[in-house]
Amino acid sequence: MAVRVGIIGCGKISERASLPNLVNYKKKARIKVLCDIVEPKALALKEKFRLTGVDIERDWKKAVKRKDIDAIFINTPNYLHEEMTVAAARNKKHVLVEKPITITVKAADNMIRSAKAGGVYLMVEQTQRFDAVHQAAKKVLESGTLGKIHNIRGRIGHAGPEYWSEGKAHWFYDKKKSGGGAMIDIGVHITDLIRWFAGKKIKEVFATIRTIEKPVKVDDNATVLFRFEDGSKGEIECSWTTRPYEVTTTVYGSKGKMMTSVGTKKPVKVVIAKTRRGDDPNCTLEEIYPEIGPGEPWENAVHYFIDCVIKKRRPFVSGEEGRETMRVIQAAYESNRFGKWVKV
Ligand SMILES: NC(=O)c1ccc[n+]([C@@H]2O[C@H](COP(=O)([O-])OP(=O)(O)OC[C@H]3O[C@@H](n4cnc5c(N)ncnc54)[C@H](O)[C@@H]3O)[C@@H](O)[C@H]2O)c1
Repeated sequence: MAVRVGIIGCGKISERASLPNLVNYKKKARIKVLCDIVEPKALALKEKFRLTGVDIERDWKKAVKRKDIDAIFINTPNYLHEEMTVAAARNKKHVLVEKPITITVKAADNMIRSAKAGGVYLMVEQTQRFDAVHQAAKKVLESGTLGKIHNIRGRIGHAGPEYWSEGKAHWFYDKKKSGGGAMIDIGVHITDLIRWFAGKKIKEVFATIRTIEKPVKVDDNATVLFRFEDGSKGEIECSWTTRPYEVTTTVYGSKGKMMTSVGTKKPVKVVIAKTRRGDDPNCTLEEIYPEIGPGEPWENAVHYFIDCVIKKRRPFVSGEEGRETMRVIQAAYESNRFGKWVKV
C-alpha cells in the first residue's frame, strides 16, 4: 500500500524537492494534506502539481493528528522542526525532517526521544548523502583504494538564501528562527558529508565564522578545522557569497587522493600513486573515474524515505546522525565565540 503523506510548510523545498519526487513516485506515495500557515502557498502548490484528493490545512497541529496519514514531511523554518516532529511522533507518524535537524543539540535529543517513544522513524533530509556523486565517492572510501585516510576537506557555497527563497526580511537571516547563518544552513550539509565520508567521530573543532559581504546579522562565511578521533584532520568551508554553486571535497589517503565536484563532467576522480614516492617525476599514476549512479539527490532522498516506511527499514540518516552533525555545528559556533579549539 502507498505511504500516505502530509507536508507541513509549502515553501521552496516543498516545491523543488518533496512534491515533484512524491508525484513521480505515485505508486508508492500519496499526498493527503498540504499544510501552510499561509494558506495560499499550500493552494498554489496543489494547483502547480495538479493534485487531486489533497486537503489544504492551515493548522499544523490538526494536520499531524489526521488518521489518514502515515508520514509527515517537516519543511518549515528550522526553529519549528522540534515541536512539529515531537507532535508528529506522538501521533505515530514517521517523520522526514529537513536539514538541519533543528537548532540545538538539546532539541535534537527531544526529537529522537519522541520518535523512539512513538515507535516511528525519524530521518533527516541530509541531501548531500543522496547525491549519486557522493554515493560513488563513499564506495571508493569503503573499498580501501586510498589506503589510510589522513586528511579530508570539503567546501559548499552558493550566493545565499535570498536567491533561493522568497521575502526580504527572511527567516534565514533571523537567528532565532534559523539558529545561525551559512554555518548552520549549508555548513550542516558539508559537515554531515565529511562525517559520513570519514566514518569516524569528530572530537575537536576550531572555527572562524564571519559576516563578510551580506548586510545581515548572521554569518555568511565559515571555515572549520576538525580533529577526528584517530588524530587525522579535516576541514570545511561554507559560504553564502560563492558564485557559481559549489560542492567539492578532497580526500587524502596513504595511497592516493580523491576529488569530488558536483555538477562537473567527471565528478569523482581518484588518483593512485603506483610507487611509494608520489613526488617522483617518474611515478606512475593511475586515474580512476568511478561510475555515477542514477537519480537526483532530492529524488533519491524522498524515494529512500518512502521505501524505508514501506519496507520497515530504519533510515540510515537517522535522528542520531542529524544530532551528531548538530553537535559539531554547535561546537563550531562556540569555538568561534571563544577563539579556541572546542571539544565536540
Ligand atoms: N535539503 C536542502 O537542500 C534544503 C534546501 C533549502 C532549504 N532546506 C530546508 O527546508 C526547510 C524549509 O526551507 P524553505 O527554503 O522551503 O523555506 P521557505 O521559507 O521557502 O518555506 C517555509 C514554509 O513554511 C511555512 N511556515 C512557517 N511557519 C509555519 C507554521 N507554523 N505552520 C505551517 N507552515 C509554516 C511558511 O509559510 C513557508 O511557506 C528549512 O529547514 C531549510 O533549512 C533544505
